[in-house]
Amino acid sequence: MATIHYDHASCVYAGADSLAVDSLDLDINDGEFIVLVGPSGSGKSTALRMLAGLEEIDGGNIRIDGQDMVGVPSKDRDIAMVFQNYALYPNKTVGENMGFALKMMKVPVDERKRRVAEAAELLGLTPFLDRKPAKLSGGQRQRVAMGRAIVREPRVFCMDEPLSNLDAKLRVQTRTQIAALQRRLGTTTVYVTHDQVEAMTMGDRVAVLRDGKLQQFSTPSVLYDHPDNAFVAGFIGSPSMNLCTVPVVSGGVDLAGTTVELSRERMTRLASAGLETVTVGIRPENLVLHRDGTGFAVTVELVEELGSESYVYARLPGDPIPGLGGDPITFVARSAQRAPARLAESVTLQIADPDAIHLFDPTSGDRIED
Ligand SMILES: Nc1ncnc2c1ncn2[C@@H]1O[C@H](COP(=O)(O)OP(=O)(O)OP(=O)(O)O)[C@@H](O)[C@H]1O
Ligand SMILES: [Mg+2]
Repeated sequence: MATIHYDHASCVYAGADSLAVDSLDLDINDGEFIVLVGPSGSGKSTALRMLAGLEEIDGGNIRIDGQDMVGVPSKDRDIAMVFQNYALYPNKTVGENMGFALKMMKVPVDERKRRVAEAAELLGLTPFLDRKPAKLSGGQRQRVAMGRAIVREPRVFCMDEPLSNLDAKLRVQTRTQIAALQRRLGTTTVYVTHDQVEAMTMGDRVAVLRDGKLQQFSTPSVLYDHPDNAFVAGFIGSPSMNLCTVPVVSGGVDLAGTTVELSRERMTRLASAGLETVTVGIRPENLVLHRDGTGFAVTVELVEELGSESYVYARLPGDPIPGLGGDPITFVARSAQRAPARLAESVTLQIADPDAIHLFDPTSGDRIED
């Protein structure tokens, strides 16, 4: 059991002109499941490896249970890692693979057997203890890798994309199992993924990284409902939030000739910030498709049917900002119907809840508070 404190922790690789992890601050509670998420190269693995002692802490500090980790070798940190490539020993059985680290640590054989048996039970691997890894499915192998970490009874689990080698269905199953297991064991866990769905479904709290910098660290629902900036807004949620920069007009914002009304308080904020344009963010489920002219006009460009719901991709006519051109603005709307629209059809989109429109500064991307 452990608390973890990243305190302005930075890492720079030799020869790089920017920090791989830039002054990261995270306060992680005992027993919490934390997910680091962000695009490729955003510093997730580096931040995790700094905690595990596999990468230097070049600036700031990381503390586990209040103890400084600078200079503490990896083996003395009491952390177990699970990687994407979990390379099991092919000529050892499942049980031997799971118990190998304990053997190296000279844990007595009875104790070793007990811990392996317990972990195998927890992971549903008891029937496979005497099998070689080659005779296991991908998901079972992944669980052996988890088992190897669990038997060590570490104070922290570090996991770096442990599910990437599994197919989509197995990934969903296994992520549920890992999350449930972590809750039972209560071991503080830092989990890295580039998949925002994995982050949202598994994490007690999620840290969103971009270019080595923390963008927001919060619960999944706060990230979704209250993103601190346009990057988090666009990164969290699938399909992504619709984001476009449009002119501020009297009483609201202009979407290709239609005024979308905003509350008086929000208009006052925009005016006091002196903004002539603003980045608006609208979730796909906040858009309702109409054929009776309600809302703003769009042309349907693509319809994706997923069975339970459909996504309609549609385009606003004209330039985003009149006279300035720019890329055409497209919207995606979520619909519960099958075949809600035809290709090239002219429909309108209505914003179901105008108060749920997000507003961001078009230059900095920062959220404009309500
Ligand atoms: N060993 C290394 N030497 C030099 N630069 C590195 C090294 N490892 C990573 N980097 C750089 O540091 C930055 C952060 O890399 P990191 O591996 O932490 O990203 P990531 O978020 O885990 O990405 P991915 O989703 O692709 O795994 C990147 O710009 C990367 O190119
Ligand atoms: Mg990585």
